[in-house]
Amino acid sequence: MTHRLAAAPAMMSPVLYACDGAVAIVSIDNPPVNALSLPVRRGLREALGRAVADPAVKAILIVGTGRIFCGGADIREFDHAAAAPSLTDVLDAIEASRKPVVAAVHGAALGGGLELAMACHGRLCATGTRLALPEVTLGLIPGAGGTQRLPRLIPLHDALPMIVMGKPIDAAQADRLELVDQVVAPDALIDSARDYALGLADREVHPVRSRPVNADGDALAIVDGFAQEHRARILGQEAPAAALDALRNAIRIGFDEAVANERAMSLKLRTGPQSVALRHLHFAEREVFKLPGLDGVAPRRMERVGIVGAGTMGTGIALAMLSAGLSVMLVEQQPAVLCRARDAIEARLVRDVAKGSMARAQADTALRQLELSGAYQDLGEADLIIEAAYESMGVKQDIFAMLDQVARTGAILASNTSYLDIDAIAAATRRPQDVMGLHFFSPANIMRLLEVVRGRESAPDIIASGLSLARKIGKVPVVAGNCHGFIGNRMLAVRRVQAEAMLAEGATPQAIDRIIEAFGFPMGPFRMADLAGLDLGWSATTSSGATIRERLNEAGRHGQKAGAGFYDYDIAGKAVPSLAADAIVRRYAQDHGIAQRLIDSEEMHDRLFLPMIDEGIRILAEGVALRPGDIDVVWVNGYGWPRHTGGPMHFARAMGLGNLADGLRSIGVAPSPALQKLVASGASLDTLAQSIG
Ligand code: COA
Repeated sequence: MTHRLAAAPAMMSPVLYACDGAVAIVSIDNPPVNALSLPVRRGLREALGRAVADPAVKAILIVGTGRIFCGGADIREFDHAAAAPSLTDVLDAIEASRKPVVAAVHGAALGGGLELAMACHGRLCATGTRLALPEVTLGLIPGAGGTQRLPRLIPLHDALPMIVMGKPIDAAQADRLELVDQVVAPDALIDSARDYALGLADREVHPVRSRPVNADGDALAIVDGFAQEHRARILGQEAPAAALDALRNAIRIGFDEAVANERAMSLKLRTGPQSVALRHLHFAEREVFKLPGLDGVAPRRMERVGIVGAGTMGTGIALAMLSAGLSVMLVEQQPAVLCRARDAIEARLVRDVAKGSMARAQADTALRQLELSGAYQDLGEADLIIEAAYESMGVKQDIFAMLDQVARTGAILASNTSYLDIDAIAAATRRPQDVMGLHFFSPANIMRLLEVVRGRESAPDIIASGLSLARKIGKVPVVAGNCHGFIGNRMLAVRRVQAEAMLAEGATPQAIDRIIEAFGFPMGPFRMADLAGLDLGWSATTSSGATIRERLNEAGRHGQKAGAGFYDYDIAGKAVPSLAADAIVRRYAQDHGIAQRLIDSEEMHDRLFLPMIDEGIRILAEGVALRPGDIDVVWVNGYGWPRHTGGPMHFARAMGLGNLADGLRSIGVAPSPALQKLVASGASLDTLAQSIG
């Protein structure tokens, strides 16, 4: 196919116009994701007007240049007032066109991109395309008819998870649901779409708006049933609730009124705190890949991965690597542990295939790429070796000394330590420049966070390799400086100190857990501690009753697995308040002369959140984290901080640093020097750290 491409009508327009015979080809050319920014909306409307006015044009094709058709509205515009023409204006013009308009979709049609395609008279998509309305993940709902057109094009039942949860579908599903008219090979897309558009030219086509909502049964009951079924998951979030209302409107009121309502709801959500927080995370989760000094630094080769230690973490890390197509040599000295790990990996892959989240061929390849060994010598070929052994400096130093003997020159050596000194671990080798921390979170094949810990001597290409590995295995990496607990666990320790102090002062585990869970965390600190096991790092021989935890362990209360910890557990595994644990805590308080009192929920909230947030500020001031957003990414992806509040640093910004300092003083905690300085100077959190040191 040949066609003339011209920027139209003004030079530098992000919408190109060309004619190929009787078909006008309108191309969105707005890298990197063809977002529908104002010049694109203007360009689309003008190109459409030009095509409609040209008597030689019989049909119009809308395509995207580059990797994807269209990534939706330009998120950067959401911080400003909406400007005309709106996407709705453009889509109305498309739908009203006398000449058929067909979308040729490749790569992805997201948000406004899918709304654009749905307003066209026909849609073709290339195999491998992803289609979604992800607005709710940004605290929004579609604002250009997406909630109205989708349930007219596909069954309501299938539209619900896409609109209310942002669930994506692939080209094959879009084909099955008849969201698209044809699915074709990527290199046949434009030609097929052109033919398809010409085929529509002489036919009467009915716009999507004229169709009824596609529901089998009582449509309102279907929406209400979905809302009920997913109540817990969407609790406290404004956007899914608004999306459900928009769907109810699709059923109850006329198209134009429902679209106007949808747009009003979308604009209102845009300025609300939840969307602001979620947009902050969208950008923060991309910024983590950008590190000063790493521009143009190529990662090292990482095809063969060695993992030392086949416990829970080693097994989870192996799964994450295998699922991403990397080959793994899992080394473990206890044959029984190694066997168990292999079985667990196989069982998980079988489950993934059964669930449909992995193709059988991929699972077979993954299993084939797993090798097991009891000998470090077998790691000689590995490009990257991750140690996931017991959390003890002595153990880790011994392993690294051994790895130094067997690893090939240039191999990357990483420790999965969750708080130990990475420089001291690196010092056990003669190649500290090749060493870094790769702190995975449990379960390592599921949790998205990866802390990449930069040691004093870690080479730039080692850190670049950590970031590149994360991308390869679908994790969000955050580079952290070396300190006890790095970013996440260091802040968590501060929360834990406050939580346990309040316990001794008379608060119950359930009251404290409730505060954290009401905030939106999946689990409070005491239920979490019970689940992880209170005996983690505890030893009966050295235990001296010095902490509440030690006393619980001494009483055999090792957590949920023992049926007793901070809580008692019934046979169904449900946590129930424990008189025995309460008695242990009271006795501890007596022994330490701690007076027990009633602690109100406001004090509990402040003590649980404010000191740990201030610890985040110390972390920034010390250069352990590069940006406030990095800390937010850690907490949201590794610790269950609710996304729609943006993370601890976003939370601090929203509450005001002066209020944070006052709040700390009101609970008897001195604000950190860094916070005091910020408050005195009126400077923002972003001025704190600029380099990881
Ligand atoms: N508006 C503005 N910028 C966007 C954008 C959008 N809708 N979607 C992506 N970008 C930016 C990213 O912030 C990133 O910017 P950076 O290079 O300055 O960091 C750049 O485009 C590339 O995005 P990235 O996510 O790194 O690329 P990718 O190829 O991995 O993924 C997408 C591309 C489109 C799949 C992904 O960016 C995405 O899901 N975007 C959000 C889409 C969305 O929610 N649209 C609805 C908006 S209401």
